[in-house]
Amino acid sequence: MPEERENVASITPCTNGPLLIRGPFQLVDADGEEITPDRRTVALCRCGVSSIKPFCDGTHKLIGFRTDPEFPGAES
Ligand code: FES
Repeated sequence: MPEERENVASITPCTNGPLLIRGPFQLVDADGEEITPDRRTVALCRCGVSSIKPFCDGTHKLIGFRTDPEFPGAES
């Protein structure tokens, strides 16, 4: 795993799950309005079924979401 750098966001694809974003970042909606997460590390949904998009609510596990191909070295 690469070394974590200050002031640089890292995006980690979780196997069969969300994208984890760590570090400083700005998240905006389709209209450019800022979405303020309540934590420094967030999980963004990539299965499309979360009820709290753009954030992951864990539903990917219930629907059996699978990444294809799985990313080598990704967190699960
Ligand atoms: S990736 Fe977790 S609910 Fe979509």
